[in-house]
Amino acid sequence: MKKLWDGRFTAGTLPEVEAFLASIEVDHLLVEFDIAGSIAHCSMLGACGIITASDASAIVSGLRAVLAKITSQSVAYTAADEDVHMWVERLLHEEIGPVAGKLHTGRSRNDQVAVDTHLYARAVGTSLVQLLVALQRALLNLCDSYPQTVLPGYTHLQRAQPILWSHHLMAYAWMFQRDCDRMRRAVAAANICPLGAGALAGTTFAIDRELVASSLKFDALYENSIDAVADRDYLLDILSGLSIVMMHLTRLSEELVLWTSAEFAFVRLADTYCTGSSIMPQKRNPDCAELIRGKCGRVYGALFNLLTTLKGLPLAYNKDLQEDKEALFDAVSTTRRCLSIMTGMLTTAAPREENMARALKEGFVNATELADYLAAKGVPFREAHHRVGRLVLECERQGLGLEDMPLSDLAEANPEIDQDVYDVLKPLTAVRRRLSRGGTAPDAIAQQRTYLEEAIRGSEAWLATAPG
Ligand code: ARG
Repeated sequence: MKKLWDGRFTAGTLPEVEAFLASIEVDHLLVEFDIAGSIAHCSMLGACGIITASDASAIVSGLRAVLAKITSQSVAYTAADEDVHMWVERLLHEEIGPVAGKLHTGRSRNDQVAVDTHLYARAVGTSLVQLLVALQRALLNLCDSYPQTVLPGYTHLQRAQPILWSHHLMAYAWMFQRDCDRMRRAVAAANICPLGAGALAGTTFAIDRELVASSLKFDALYENSIDAVADRDYLLDILSGLSIVMMHLTRLSEELVLWTSAEFAFVRLADTYCTGSSIMPQKRNPDCAELIRGKCGRVYGALFNLLTTLKGLPLAYNKDLQEDKEALFDAVSTTRRCLSIMTGMLTTAAPREENMARALKEGFVNATELADYLAAKGVPFREAHHRVGRLVLECERQGLGLEDMPLSDLAEANPEIDQDVYDVLKPLTAVRRRLSRGGTAPDAIAQQRTYLEEAIRGSEAWLATAPG
């Protein structure tokens, strides 16, 4: 195929080279953004009198017609189209003839691809906030459905202290809140217009960059044309945000894997999110949680891919930058799918309270309560800690819980202990008494819930006017 840039060439590119250099298989996904950028650029050329108003309007209608054909799949790209920009330009040419050649006045593919990826980053950042909010809502529903459920909280994966199930789940909702905030910052970082930079040095045409920026709803523009075409930091912002989202999802996934094992049996996932084994009839595997955990690596990989592409890259545009897209697109679709699977999985999950109660019984999770009880009666906390440790040792020897020990045994070395200790040793009492701000008591949880709700409403309000 004849190239749009072949004036100074006497021989065509080898087919193998053409295929190697082409990015259309990947960047065709940017076509909507590419056309939006072209419409803004062309309208500005017309408004500034750089091309005639009638040429501008012929090109803009041509671009709209091309988009309609692409959307209805009545046109396709070929490897010879090289990239999304050349593809659209070819289709425009077929649509409106030689006047199509005026579109590229005062523009280069270098600022064009940059505007495409800025628009893309803005849109995906916004869609990520939407998915994160849905996941937070699923977590909150699961809290609200089981407000009284108590389970052991863990440190070092050893039973530690009783906590409310809603407290544990809300810890994840806060992580995803920070992810929303990070994505919003990534959207703000992407919301800056590179168009008008040309290949790298700006243009001799009297263009109006502000007009282009405002018609594409950017709230700033690059002040340095070289930076405008060479910068990919905004994609790093998206990728590092996605990496952290995935990391959070793997922590939650890992807990679901543990919690659905017979060893814990704290949670039941719906059949619709589990799979069986081809050989072991009894199996019910939490594959979705495992695969989310497994997919994290490719998202981290995308971040390192782009960091490495950018490392040591001289200014301004280099073909290396074409490599920014494939891993990015994969990271975005992977994270989106994982978020939506996790949301569905949680919507249909339920705690197995009887097993949580059993774990609470077996783990001496009330040992801190007893130490606090003694400390409240004037025993120095270190001393109380030691004395309770001795009691735990004795209980272990006898196969008892602290709450099963007769008062006489408890009080033998601890005259401060009275009958009222048995209430203190109940998991629910332990929970109710942890009233410190951010603590696990139902009243503290209610307060936390209000702050979280406020934060989520903040994301929802932002979404209503988000630039993506
Ligand atoms: N396909 C290219 C990319 O993704 C577009 C920019 C090409 N510019 C150039 N001078 N070859 O980066």
